[in-house]
Amino acid sequence: MKISIYIAASANGLISNSRNVPDWLSPEYGAGMMAICREYKAVIMGRVTYDILAPDYLPLTQEGTTVVLTTSEAATSGNSTVVFTKANPAEIVQMLADRGHTHAVIIGGTATISAFVNAGVVDDIYFVMEPVLFGGGLPLLKGVEAELKLNLLAVTKLNGNTVQLHYEIAKS
Ligand SMILES: NC(=O)c1ccc[n+]([C@@H]2O[C@H](COP(=O)([O-])OP(=O)(O)OC[C@H]3O[C@@H](n4cnc5c(N)ncnc54)[C@H](OP(=O)(O)O)[C@@H]3O)[C@@H](O)[C@H]2O)c1
Repeated sequence: MKISIYIAASANGLISNSRNVPDWLSPEYGAGMMAICREYKAVIMGRVTYDILAPDYLPLTQEGTTVVLTTSEAATSGNSTVVFTKANPAEIVQMLADRGHTHAVIIGGTATISAFVNAGVVDDIYFVMEPVLFGGGLPLLKGVEAELKLNLLAVTKLNGNTVQLHYEIAKS
């Protein structure tokens, strides 16, 4: 099972601004995120990210599996492809494998990415660097003690100002 992260960040590595308004994200990031979700057909996100995207902007609605991390027992969705869970990352990877998935992509946010990185189950990361700098907001990772080394796989210019960096996480 291959687990990837697809995330946009400011040039100083923050994934949301202090206004929490995503007006700095390029259409190319949105297109890239949608494309990898539709290719992998298994998407993982946290409940806060889900609440931003649902119901109109979820990347998968007709097929595949959308896993939403939440501690809430009461969470429900009108979409049968959405699975709410408080399972840990290893259990989620196993659940997706049991459903026949071979790839899954984590699309945010900080808490969810950090949980999967801490569990050591992430293989690679697509880091879309947008041409902005801001001081407040959320970092990519929180509560991650490990220092991970990355191997650069590809650099893709998405538009005149936005670069996509694809790194694999080096096995320690
Ligand atoms: N730049 C980008 O590409 C991008 C993409 C997506 C999101 N974002 C930004 O990221 C921000 C959201 O990030 P976030 O860290 O606040 O939230 P998040 O990771 O989207 O969701 C956090 C929630 O997920 C649940 N959760 C997380 N880890 C869990 C675990 N181990 N077990 C059970 N449930 C768990 C909890 O839900 P409950 O509270 O329901 O228990 C938690 O409150 C937003 O501001 C959004 O704009 C940016």
